Amino acid sequence: MPASLIQILLFSLLYPGSTMSGLVRSDTEDFIDWWQHTVFYQIYPRSFKDSNGDGIGDLRGITSMLPYLAETGITATWLSPIFQSPMVDFGYDISDYTEIQPEYGTMQDFEELIDTAYDLGIKVILDFVPNHSSDQHEWFKKSAARMPGYEDFYVWEDGILKEDGTRAPPNNWPSVFYGSAWEWHEGRQQYYLHQFTKEQPDLNYRNPKVVQAMDDVILFWLNKGVAGFRIDAVNHLFEDESLMDEPLSGKSTDPLSYDYTKHIYSRDLPEVLDLIQHWRKLLDDFSAKHPQRPTRIMMTEAYAGLTQLADYYEDSEGVRGSHLPFNFHFITDVKGDSDARDFVYNVEKWLIYMPRGHAANWVMGNHDNPRVASRFGSASVDAMNMLLLTLPGVAVTYNGEELGMEDYREISWQDTVDPPARNVGEELYKEVSRDPVRTPFQWSNKKNAGFSSAPKTWLPVHPNYLELNLEAQMAANKSHYQVYKDLIDLRKSAIMRLGRFNIEAISRWVFAFKRSYPNFETIITIINVSDKEQLVNLTEFINQPKKLVVEVSGVNSNYHSGQSLAASALSLGAREGLVCRLV
Ligand code: GLC
Repeated sequence: MPASLIQILLFSLLYPGSTMSGLVRSDTEDFIDWWQHTVFYQIYPRSFKDSNGDGIGDLRGITSMLPYLAETGITATWLSPIFQSPMVDFGYDISDYTEIQPEYGTMQDFEELIDTAYDLGIKVILDFVPNHSSDQHEWFKKSAARMPGYEDFYVWEDGILKEDGTRAPPNNWPSVFYGSAWEWHEGRQQYYLHQFTKEQPDLNYRNPKVVQAMDDVILFWLNKGVAGFRIDAVNHLFEDESLMDEPLSGKSTDPLSYDYTKHIYSRDLPEVLDLIQHWRKLLDDFSAKHPQRPTRIMMTEAYAGLTQLADYYEDSEGVRGSHLPFNFHFITDVKGDSDARDFVYNVEKWLIYMPRGHAANWVMGNHDNPRVASRFGSASVDAMNMLLLTLPGVAVTYNGEELGMEDYREISWQDTVDPPARNVGEELYKEVSRDPVRTPFQWSNKKNAGFSSAPKTWLPVHPNYLELNLEAQMAANKSHYQVYKDLIDLRKSAIMRLGRFNIEAISRWVFAFKRSYPNFETIITIINVSDKEQLVNLTEFINQPKKLVVEVSGVNSNYHSGQSLAASALSLGAREGLVCRLV
């Protein structure tokens, strides 16, 4: 019998009733390391908590709120960049990778943050932005001046000299943030590449000195006690050396728009994988040398195809790379009008592609995309948190999503600061601006939602803070926050770590999934993604003559926890989600 058939047989003996695609990839408790079943809570430092009244969030603000994370049951956080930066792209343009941005605090503040987090059992992940630095970085200044050792730190090109004596960029590549990806540098008399704003020149990873300089940055922060890195924009790290024009995509007629070309020479190059694997080795070696602290990990950010992301986990030769290549499908591939099949398909496809022995991950939001309440409607907040927090593997929550915070779309052109929004101009800025999702965290109904005592905050506070805030949600009988916290509590039970997984569309609008394990009560999540009430029969899916007992229900639900329900005729309200035990 061929080996693959034997494997399939063994599989079905070991895991009766499970589909391949539905398997949780970590099958024994011993195998589960801290990061394989954690909720990573993303903090956007500028908007989380301001401790000194300048209208901008800071490190001491974060430290003061770490007890809130601990109380919620959060054990890991990733921080958007806190490093020295001219703030053109709000910290994603770094002018010194090993210094703290003064408006965020000092290195001592950072050390206190790490110590406090450690005492509270919270692991801290930093954002590592390797694709580009700021044009104010010493490296760029030295490279522009052709200082020995720095000449090739960035991607420099002569461009095209036209017959009339004028110059044009080397090719037709557009930047992600609109406009040519090339900028002329008067001093050096050459163009440099910038995949994002022109103040964010791309580093040249074909130069081993750049790789070494960045390894030093990684080691610097590891030695400060961080648990790892979220690595920014990894699929942009390399460009084809031929620098050929990219073919047109047909999606846009505007040559300055990122959609104008198919990015076959400027994105997702095979070399990306080598660098990810190199960083993985660096982290693994560090973890092996310092076993007293937990495994150091990397999460990678790339809006890329499934095959690429699966390779980031582990390539076809079995070489491991990213611990958690972010899975953005709940952001990019489902929306308010998606039906149950779309959700099931998106969950299954990740599990099918993810190589065995890895942890699934689900990202429900971040600082670059509209919030859950804006993508799916505010009635969906609890159901989407149920989905996120009861699926197998890792969940990633953007700060404020535990309250169901909403995008503030009415930010005026004058108050708009996000570079891609400024680049497209007053007519179109609302279509691309990320400011609405970055407004200050809504702690209370006090001044500036309790975020800051300043007369003006860096971005306006959403006016709905008077009703929608943490303090109110903590005091209420039932709230999004309490639902979120109950779900985090539930995740602590062994079934949520070990439970094998099945998902099905029960009807066009309702899907359900279960986590089951011998000798444990099965946990079932049922979600109605339509705006109408739905009646479903779950007996076939459950496959046992058992009752459902509500474990967690949402704010808009008629059910309460502990209530028993008949699986044969279950009614779910519009956008309602339920988490139940099978007894
Ligand atoms: C990533 C970040 C985004 C930033 C960009 C450039 O996509 O998440 O906020 O603007 O990289 O660094």
